[in-house]
Amino acid sequence: MTEIERSWLTNPSRRTALARMAALMAASPIAAAAAQTDPRPLSEHRRALSLAEMQTSFDFEPVFFGNVPLSVYDYTAHGDGSEFTLRRNRQAFDWVEIMPRRAAVPASRIDLSSELLGVKMKFPILVAPTAAMRPLHPDEEIGMFKAATAASNTLMILSVNTSRPVTEVAPASPGGTLWGQFYPIEALASAQRVLDTFQNAGCHGIVVTVDQQASYYERTAQDRNFGGVVRTRGAGSGAASAEPVGSARYRINGGRLWYTWQYIDAVRKMIKGPLLIKGILDPEDAKLAIEHGADAIIVSNHGGRSMDYGPSTLEVLPEIVAAVNGRVPVLFDSGVRRGADIFKALALGANGVMIGRTTRWGLAAFGTAGAQRLIEILQQELVQAAAAAGCTRLSEIDATTIKTRFA
Ligand code: FNR
Repeated sequence: MTEIERSWLTNPSRRTALARMAALMAASPIAAAAAQTDPRPLSEHRRALSLAEMQTSFDFEPVFFGNVPLSVYDYTAHGDGSEFTLRRNRQAFDWVEIMPRRAAVPASRIDLSSELLGVKMKFPILVAPTAAMRPLHPDEEIGMFKAATAASNTLMILSVNTSRPVTEVAPASPGGTLWGQFYPIEALASAQRVLDTFQNAGCHGIVVTVDQQASYYERTAQDRNFGGVVRTRGAGSGAASAEPVGSARYRINGGRLWYTWQYIDAVRKMIKGPLLIKGILDPEDAKLAIEHGADAIIVSNHGGRSMDYGPSTLEVLPEIVAAVNGRVPVLFDSGVRRGADIFKALALGANGVMIGRTTRWGLAAFGTAGAQRLIEILQQELVQAAAAAGCTRLSEIDATTIKTRFA
């Protein structure tokens, strides 16, 4: 043996050291077990449920969660600030009890049809406007509109921030009813253009959203998932900027903090059909909205996305219904997840109930078919609640059918 060979025996090179280490690991019983048996215990097994297995709206959310990038999920899920109002919207439904004061009736005898501003509805349920559906599912807004129409001609309101232009969505579901939603644009000529696009596409009703003026979703894609870049509009500049300037550095959205009732007067003249004002939480504002030409008002806090520490919509609904006093229909949204929730809002005086996030869960989980199933589940849950409370008609779902214990 030469001298160098002897040195390899006592002082191995990196190569031989690695080779010996590999041989040791390959021979180890730990590695052999990992290669030959399922390393996960059975309890960790996860299976995505199929469309046929969906029983309640809550079944759709985890499927949606699993289908999309986290930033897409976050954008739908979260609310403004610390999300107190987001939570309170849900909690408020726990503070209303359904009282079985009348004898229950068979579900087959229930007829909850009504008419809203000239539109016949089989159920008092509408699809709320929610922005940008393309990231949720390739069926996007066209799929949502087809789903709404297929689910007993449910009226859908298309967000102005739609992924697909209204000119393509409106004709995609013949026989369906599509209304348009609009955020105030300060330049009246631009506002007119946007409103005309909706109206020329056949959207008869126009929803003007007056909340959402300064919201900030701490927990959405806008910070966490985009690497900490706060994408707030520059104060008054109207332009999105990655490098906020002025008050926008402190997350104050200058794009929307200028709304006035005079502005509503101006857009009222541009709207040929019904005007609905969305985002009312105060009885005096409800009266003003009617004075300024609203044909319906929508009690909404934007699903807790508009102003944190505001009230839940269910808590303010009765006083707004009293202030409106039957002059115009009152619609309601924010926090609705079950048919029983819809029943409670109707009992507190709403004429119709709009569904926001939940419709997105349905679309994102299973596309058009999922959104349709989701709306149908809510319709049937509402029928079930009405049957249990002994209400055969919408007019019978009134304050006598519930007890409220708002905290
Ligand atoms: C909304 N909402 C909304 N409203 C509106 O007038 N225009 C819009 O573009 C949007 N966009 C939007 C996006 C997302 C992701 C959500 C969750 C909501 C508010 C919506 O119309 C409705 O008021 C709430 O969604 C109702 O609360 P729930 O049902 O989501 O709890």
